[in-house]
Amino acid sequence: MNDIIIKAENVNKTIVNKNGGEVVSTTILPDISLDFRRGEFSAITGPSGSGKTTLLYLIGALDMPTNGRIFLEEKEISAMKEEELAELRNEKFGFVFQFHFLLPEFTALENVMMPMLARGRTTVKRAREKAAELLKQVGMEDKQNNKPNQLSGGQQQRIAVARALANDPIVLLADEPTGNLDSKNSENIYSLFEKLNRENNQTIIVVTHDEHFALRTHRKIHIIDGKIDQDIRTKEPGSSIQS
Ligand SMILES: Nc1ncnc2c1ncn2[C@@H]1O[C@H](COP(=O)(O)OP(=O)(O)OP(=O)(O)O)[C@@H](O)[C@H]1O
Ligand SMILES: [Mg+2]
Repeated sequence: MNDIIIKAENVNKTIVNKNGGEVVSTTILPDISLDFRRGEFSAITGPSGSGKTTLLYLIGALDMPTNGRIFLEEKEISAMKEEELAELRNEKFGFVFQFHFLLPEFTALENVMMPMLARGRTTVKRAREKAAELLKQVGMEDKQNNKPNQLSGGQQQRIAVARALANDPIVLLADEPTGNLDSKNSENIYSLFEKLNRENNQTIIVVTHDEHFALRTHRKIHIIDGKIDQDIRTKEPGSSIQS
């Protein structure tokens, strides 16, 4: 099945800054086109400053392109109004940031419940049950009442993954999810993504510096100066990933 889930068409991102009286414009992504298939586990790699985060934010509708179009399941997200975008971000995408951004005053369970309660579509009881299920899925069931500062970096990142899955996202996006973890915790996060992809057919796009991690996905997209330098599919979505 080669069902395209996300399509970026001639996407350009240019940022204009005022530097004193001078207007400086910087093109981060000159003209990028690529698509992602349903169930595909992709890695985006590239040097620092090459535009990986910028691209991921555009895909996840956290930012808008200057030119070009982005589609999620054939709906053009780059043409949506803010209200529609807010719903899309909360319900269609799950985002794991490099620094997890868990809310420090809430427990792990409450952090995972938060996106479910955001739009009042579910009851607190149901959100609590689902959050507990997700914490189990990421192996953190015995830490549900811990606050973030009572968890290790790797554990916090697992909670962040559970939170990103709260609303059954169509696509899970992660920006350097193992960037500040040691090799054992990085391996745990990788195994978790691999499991979510294999068992739930979850579409996953991960930005990573970790070549070892990247080589174990279905596809490695290497970006240099905002352009695709290499795009290698080594496995088909749905096929098992050998480590
Ligand atoms: N708001 C902004 N104004 C000006 N330049 C910006 C802005 N945001 C990003 N950039 C520039 O765009 C380029 C790409 O940034 P981006 O954060 O996407 O890179 P990256 O590949 O994620 O890097 P890293 O691996 O270090 O996270 C960088 O040169 C950065 O300085
Ligand atoms: Mg980045």
